[in-house]
Amino acid sequence: MNKFIKIIVYSLGILLLIVIGFLTYVKVALPDVGPPPDIKIVATAEKIERGSYLAHHVTLCMDCHSTRDWSYFSGPMVAGTEGKGGETFDQKFGFPGKYVAPNITPFNLKDWTDGEIFRAVTSGVSKDGRALFPIMPHLLYGQLDKNDIESIIAFIRTLKPIENNTEVSSSDFPMNFIINTIPKKPSFTTIPSQHDKLNYGKYIATASGCMECHTKQVNGKIVGQPYAGGFEFMLPGNTVVRSANITPDKETGIGTWTNQQFIERFKMYSDSVYANVKVAPGTFQTTMPWTMYAGMHQEDLSALFVYLQSLPPINNAVEKFTAANGK
Ligand code: HEC
Ligand code: HEC
Repeated sequence: MNKFIKIIVYSLGILLLIVIGFLTYVKVALPDVGPPPDIKIVATAEKIERGSYLAHHVTLCMDCHSTRDWSYFSGPMVAGTEGKGGETFDQKFGFPGKYVAPNITPFNLKDWTDGEIFRAVTSGVSKDGRALFPIMPHLLYGQLDKNDIESIIAFIRTLKPIENNTEVSSSDFPMNFIINTIPKKPSFTTIPSQHDKLNYGKYIATASGCMECHTKQVNGKIVGQPYAGGFEFMLPGNTVVRSANITPDKETGIGTWTNQQFIERFKMYSDSVYANVKVAPGTFQTTMPWTMYAGMHQEDLSALFVYLQSLPPINNAVEKFTAANGK
């Protein structure tokens, strides 16, 4: 009996050492995506313009890294806050920690090399080696064309410096360990020709993260079919908005839409009548960044539609909005 207990105690001891060893490895040795690349971006006017387009209307860097006014439809950016940081994604919204979008104006990034910004955006590792939580879809940005990332960096270097210090993000247990296993070395691609609408559209979809929101997730785990919608977002005032099914299913998706209707649906929000609509608390509000995507080039939206229509249609009816106290 005595011997038996001894064996158990020893086994547990060894197991504990293995667990401690593993956790230490995860904390100390990870993330391991290598040093920031040694690059120097030559900021041409063309690069800055391309970067501004992507940051405002496609990759939506400006959406998360500026102040948004949720008293208006789709939470447009408050003028004068471009890149200031401070938007908070925390436990209230179902995140496993408190994540704060940092200031990305030169006020914060002036001491960063181009390579350090490049690594943060495409591998999810900050200047100091800290893993960044993938609210910012760095796993997607790491699949884009390097030139597009360089253009975005050239653009954010031109932002007006805004003095604003943001709180450093923190993860709850066990995410404080898991987060270190998330950053990945990028696997860049070359932007497809615009004539190849399908692949070009797929590239735009990756850059703008449509799938991230349009696939149902619960506690950070994907539980739905890609693009079939149903991802729930809690909004102030106890209302819930759910992403739409944007697969080509004719009944529950966008299978009956034409390319023109799709483009118009987005472009509608570039009209100031729709772009500045006050939302009364408790009434229909959305996390779909309509007002920012509205600036997407017509050709990009058109290719995006071609790509979405090539997906397998999935029958999934989504109730897009539940008002306060409603079901
Ligand atoms: C969906 C929201 C979102 C989008 C879109 C987004 N970011 Fe972020 N970004 C964040 C959050 C949140 C963090 C902080 C994460 C953390 O601390 O774990 C972050 C971190 C960063 C950092 C690291 C800064 C630091 O001080 O550590 C940089 C640089 C950055 N983002 C630039 C960009 C650029 C450039 C783009 C567009 C290509 C972009 N972000 C798009 C939310 C976003
Ligand atoms: C931050 C989350 C988020 C992102 C990113 C996002 N969407 Fe949405 N989308 C939503 C939500 C929520 C709805 C439902 C509410 C609404 O209609 O505004 C929606 C609605 C839509 C609709 C309306 C469908 C209908 O039946 O009326 C279309 C089309 C759409 N999204 C396409 C896209 C495309 C294309 C992208 C990428 C360029 C994208 N979305 C990115 C959250 C998102």
